[in-house]
Amino acid sequence: MTRHLLRDDDLSQAEQSAILDLALELKKDRFAVTPLAGPQTVAVIFDKSSTRTRVSFAVGIADLGGVPLIISTANSQLGGKETATDTARVLERQVAAIAWRTYAQSGLEEMAAGTTVPVINALSDDFHPCQLLADLLTIREHRGALAGLTVTFLGDGACNMAQSYLLAGTTAGMHVRIAAPAGYEPADAVVADATRRAQATGGSVTLFAEPAESVVGADVVVTDTWVSMGRESEKAERLTRLNAYQVNAELLARAKPDALFLHCLPADRGFEVTAEVLDGPQSVIWDEAENRLHAQKALLVWLLHQA
Ligand code: CP
Ligand code: NVA
Repeated sequence: MTRHLLRDDDLSQAEQSAILDLALELKKDRFAVTPLAGPQTVAVIFDKSSTRTRVSFAVGIADLGGVPLIISTANSQLGGKETATDTARVLERQVAAIAWRTYAQSGLEEMAAGTTVPVINALSDDFHPCQLLADLLTIREHRGALAGLTVTFLGDGACNMAQSYLLAGTTAGMHVRIAAPAGYEPADAVVADATRRAQATGGSVTLFAEPAESVVGADVVVTDTWVSMGRESEKAERLTRLNAYQVNAELLARAKPDALFLHCLPADRGFEVTAEVLDGPQSVIWDEAENRLHAQKALLVWLLHQA
């Protein structure tokens, strides 16, 4: 049966772990496997801007022996003119897989329900599962086993990164804490799904209203932009409401002394994180950005193998 990665909990703990194992192998030997030899094509569709996702998918697909087909919605028929389902039915006759960066999660669900090729969420308003595979790979490289580690995400708790940390972190057996002000909490349904997953893996979910307490004892501290793509009109209000959640040296000092700092990037320096932390010794952001390549290659290999 065709498998997709639309949200982080589409993978079981064992599947997530197997993909991370493979990513580590591919990082050591980048051209070890070429499942896309032919070459086969993978379509990567963007409704929103991107640097890391575009580059890492394009390079990764080429590394696997394939050809990346990068499509901007702005100059395609998708997005108003043709449905996601019809688009996928055209693409599936010619490509091995589809990755799509979009707004509504429901678009990805519609596309996946109506196609025979794997569909990968390359970021939606709700989740960013490819980034989480890269983040977990980075944490594993620096800290070893994931299960039992405590990770705190601060800021916009309703954004795709926070919600993906809830699902992917608990899948890995981690203790996931989210620190966010009222009105910026993760969706109740996501918290419920993450809590259920945590019960099965030995992880946990804790929501904090205040930042200071949320990082005490944390192994990993994470933040993301306060103004996600699509939220630009709320910028002024967000900068005010989220100001107290900035990750700065004082806040990071409350976590474990060797706590890692992660940020999916792009960062708004001086807002959700200070330059001092972003460029400091605890930051692993460049490993994290590189790991998009290795994690997505492993994901593609795994998805193609399931088909
Ligand atoms: N982290 C991330 O997804 O970056 P891009 O928006 O540059 O792809
Ligand atoms: N939360 C951010 C992530 C960017 C990679 C956004 O959606 O814009």
